[in-house]
Amino acid sequence: MSAPVAAPAAAAPVPPPQPGTPEFEAAIVATLSAPAKWSEGPFSNGTGPNTLPVLDTASLTADTPFPALKNDLFLRTARGEACERTPVWCHRQAGRYLPEFKETRRLGDFFTMCRTPRIAVELTLQPIRRFALDAAIIFSDILVIPQALGMEVLMKEGVGPVLPAPIRTPDQMSRLKKREEVDVKSSLKYVFDAIRLCRHSLQGTVPLIGFCGAPWTLACYMIEGGGSKSYTQARRWLFAHPAESHALLSLITDVLIEYLVEQVRAGAQALEVFDTWSGELTQQCYDEFILPYVRKLAAEVKAQTKAQQLPSVPMTLFPKGSDSAATLRAIAQTTEYDLVSLDWATNPPEARAAVASAPRSVGLQGNLDPAVLYCSEEQIRAHTRKMLDAFGTGGRLVANLGHGMLPDHPLEGLRVFVDEVHNYSPNLCKQPAQQQ
Ligand code: CP3
Repeated sequence: MSAPVAAPAAAAPVPPPQPGTPEFEAAIVATLSAPAKWSEGPFSNGTGPNTLPVLDTASLTADTPFPALKNDLFLRTARGEACERTPVWCHRQAGRYLPEFKETRRLGDFFTMCRTPRIAVELTLQPIRRFALDAAIIFSDILVIPQALGMEVLMKEGVGPVLPAPIRTPDQMSRLKKREEVDVKSSLKYVFDAIRLCRHSLQGTVPLIGFCGAPWTLACYMIEGGGSKSYTQARRWLFAHPAESHALLSLITDVLIEYLVEQVRAGAQALEVFDTWSGELTQQCYDEFILPYVRKLAAEVKAQTKAQQLPSVPMTLFPKGSDSAATLRAIAQTTEYDLVSLDWATNPPEARAAVASAPRSVGLQGNLDPAVLYCSEEQIRAHTRKMLDAFGTGGRLVANLGHGMLPDHPLEGLRVFVDEVHNYSPNLCKQPAQQQ
């Protein structure tokens, strides 16, 4: 009888190479020069699969002009101009639902990806290569701002963001850098480098959106130390320490103003402010602790870009969960955001009526329930049409999800949603806007 053959030992997982090493550089080069493996999809951007490589930084200087924009539907809609079709893109379109995203993410941890411009650009381009989207959003995260303020932020697999030393009490604010100690241009240079490289690499296919988290949403993570069910500790701050809450929100706002202006200088063609946890507050707290800061953010970014002769870029606010008519009216009447992004629970006709109360024209973005993308093709098409109909005729809408793409979303769901917006919206855009 022959001796039993020992089962081969399971191969130990190979740790990703360390940033800055030749192995890491080789892994990036291998990733960026991978053959066209991911080639399904309609590609009605006219670019075709993998025809948008991450360009070689060596071929670009700071004054290389950006390529002309070929698809300006998103920018025209944001500015209130008439469009022949509703533009469409999705929050978290660069994400784990894409197999190529998961493969690229194996190169290192989340924030290493954010800090490596060529990889951030690769991740930004992946959904643009595959779907007929009308805008790209730079791959990064809202939590790079707490990092720039001196906090440690980790992204834990299966958990989400973790801030090991949160600011639980006002005296712990002394751990944060003072405004004058935060060097936005150097500490967040990797974001600006990624934006510049991405503008070139997009080759004018679609505009590039830059973004940040809103002051309150960032404060939530900084106080709680991570995600939370209802941000009780952060809400407690507003009642227990109102003066210190204002100090913290002011500090974050002032850093964000410079951060967004620098994104525009780097080449961002639009900006979105994500206020994911704004719906957790009472109306009074919204008016006192959110509204003045998001208002100042838009006003200052617009004033400073103008004063510095930078392009004037449209700004979107995503006040998730804050769908009361009073809040939407206040945003439309007292801030300078060009678009308000709605979550799926907001009723489009009511939102239209609320923003119509402002003397200026305010557009809307949204708001398909992301759960629809799990349904059959026919159901996705029907619900997309219902959503577009609910926003009414005449345009001034950017189609998007009511929140973001989820890791288990089927690719086909997004393809069908985008396709239905392409098919169905031209007829709605042709008709005059309905009176509210
Ligand atoms: O495609 C894009 O939208 C651009 C990139 C982007 C990311 N995060 C990448 C990301 C954007 C715009 C964000 C914004 C962001 N980050 C928000 C506001 C928008 C929202 O969705 O509410 C918030 C609250 C965060 C904080 C954050 N980052 C959380 C709560 C998580 C964990 C989520 C999870 O599912 O694990 C992240 C991680 C993150 N940011 C991922 C991506 C693609 C997934 C994690 C990974 O790739 O490892």
